[in-house]
Parts: sequence; C-alpha cells; structure tokens
Amino acid sequence: MGTVAALVVAAGRGERASGAIPKQYRDLAGIPVLRRVLDVLARHREVDMVQPVIAEPDSDRYRRATAGLSTLPPVVGGATRQASVCAGLEALAARGPEIVLVHDAARPFASAALISRAIAAGHATRAAVPVLPVADTVKTVDPDGRVTATLDRAILRTIQTPQAFDFAQLLDAHRKAAAAGHADFPDDAALAEWAGSRVATFPGEVGNIKLTTAEDFMRAEAEMIGRLGDVRTGSGYDVHAFGDGGHVILGGVSIPHTHGLTGHSDADVVLHALVDAILGALADGDIGEHFPPDDPRWRGASS
Ligand code: CTP
Ligand code: MG
Repeated sequence: MGTVAALVVAAGRGERASGAIPKQYRDLAGIPVLRRVLDVLARHREVDMVQPVIAEPDSDRYRRATAGLSTLPPVVGGATRQASVCAGLEALAARGPEIVLVHDAARPFASAALISRAIAAGHATRAAVPVLPVADTVKTVDPDGRVTATLDRAILRTIQTPQAFDFAQLLDAHRKAAAAGHADFPDDAALAEWAGSRVATFPGEVGNIKLTTAEDFMRAEAEMIGRLGDVRTGSGYDVHAFGDGGHVILGGVSIPHTHGLTGHSDADVVLHALVDAILGALADGDIGEHFPPDDPRWRGASS
C-alpha cells in the first residue's frame, strides 16, 4: 500500500473566536491547540508524513508552538480554507502519497481511533468524511426567519474532519476548482462532490468538536480538566514567631538571618503551609493532627 499524508490547515485568523492570537496557537490546558493536532497525527503509526499549512505572519508563533515535533516544514496557505488546502496538496505532490487526510487545526480532539477509521475509509472508498447523526430537528427559514420547511432528520448528518481522499484525485479536483474560479468550498468533500466524486461516510466522534467561538474554548478547557480526573484544590498557611538564632529555614533551605523562628520542629512555614494545603485537598485534617507538637518524635525535626 502507498503512503498516507496528513494535511493540517492552520492558516485561518480565527475571527469568530476573537482572541488576541489566532485560535490554533492558543493554549488548551497548557498546550497550544496546533501542537496537540500535529502531535496526534505525527505519532500515529499509519500516518507517514504531516504537512502543516500556516499563515505567513504566524511563522514565529508556529516555531514556538511546535518545537521538537516531526512534521514536514510548513507551507504558506491562502485567503480561503480551500486555497490553504490546495497549497498543502501542491507541496505534497512531489512526495506522491496515495491517501491524504485533510484536517482542521481547530479540531484538537480527534482520537487516534478516528484517524485510523479515516485511513481505512480512504483506502476503501477514495473519498470519505466523518459524520454524526443530527439530534435536533432542522428547519429552513426565509430571510424574515419564517419556517419554510422541516427537513427529514434521518437523512441529515453533520460533517467533521479528518476527511480522507485519494491524493491524486483530490489534487486534480482542487486544480480544476481553482481554474474554474471556485475559491470558497466549505470543505474538501464539497469540492470533491463538485468534481464528480461519490463521497462515502464513516462514524465521526462527538468529542471531535471544532473550536470556533470563545465559548468553545471554555467548554474545551473544562473537557481537558475533566480528562485529568478528580481535580481538587486546598489552601494552607502557617505562622511562627521570631526568636533566637542565626538562620531561618524556608522550603527546606537554610537562610542566614539575624533571628531564627521558634517552633517544635524546624519551623519551616513554607513546607508546613504546603502540607496543610495538601491535607486540605485530601479533606484529611491538618498538620497538627498528623504531627502533634507535643509528640517528642518531632522535636527539632526537619520538615
Ligand atoms: N483555514 C486556513 N486558511 C484559511 C481559512 C481557514 O487554513 N484561509 C483553516 C483554519 O485555520 C481552521 C480550518 O481552516 O483550522 C477551519 O476554519 P475555521 O474554523 O473557519 O477557522 P478560521 O477561518 O481561522 O476562523 P474564522 O472563520 O472564525 O475566522
Ligand atoms: Mg473561517
């Protein structure tokens, strides 16, 4: 079987997400969105190469966000998503992959299993997109907002990425669309349909959302924290009086000083506060219960 390329389009400006920087460079639980996307594809054992497409003004951001990842060097995209995909396909042409997955940088939750499904569907059908059934009833409306029709939900699907195609066919379709003056197909399936392909479907993932608005980011943060499991917080503080001595111990470090701190142990307020915070998060009493000040074992102990 031939090689599989993944093309990630990241040249948009993210206007609807209205952040200070384009959404694909924003951190999600400490990791840039684009880094998550490229990493899951680059580490996938059935993906042979990953081609990022970025906007020229983002080159520095791109370097910072993706240091150490093994992808092809990024190429510069165009004014529309379609033009950005086309730029990526042209860059891949010399490498001649058999199958290409086209994926939005704005979908950082695509799983390795979904990527495998996309590759299998690409090999089997030469053009395939991940879909979800529609739960809500969908209606069409006129410009005044009056309902004009109610659609049959059973035949409706929402569409995601990664979309999988025969590479040569998709490149050919993109070149034809550009030559015919079409510049704004919303996705590659629409372009392939226009070029005469029959596009197959395979199951998408509910969690594979596209980050579009600021609310999407908030929901995604909550989702990431949820994946970390049970997150708890605790707070602690400690107070010791100054007394005789020539140093204080803070966080385990002895610091020369005109006075010491009085206490049963070494009076390390930093570690005592930290231990109290941890015990608080565990709902397990406080430091005095676990290490009573009248217990001779802790006299002068190192915290
Ligand atoms: N994209 C691209 N080149 C463009 C426009 C979009 O590579 N000229 C990419 C985006 O970076 C994104 C994907 O296409 O990963 C889907 O587009 P969308 O969610 O609309 O992102 P933006 O265009 O960046 O956002 P907005 O429309 O809100 O400005
Ligand atoms: Mg857009």
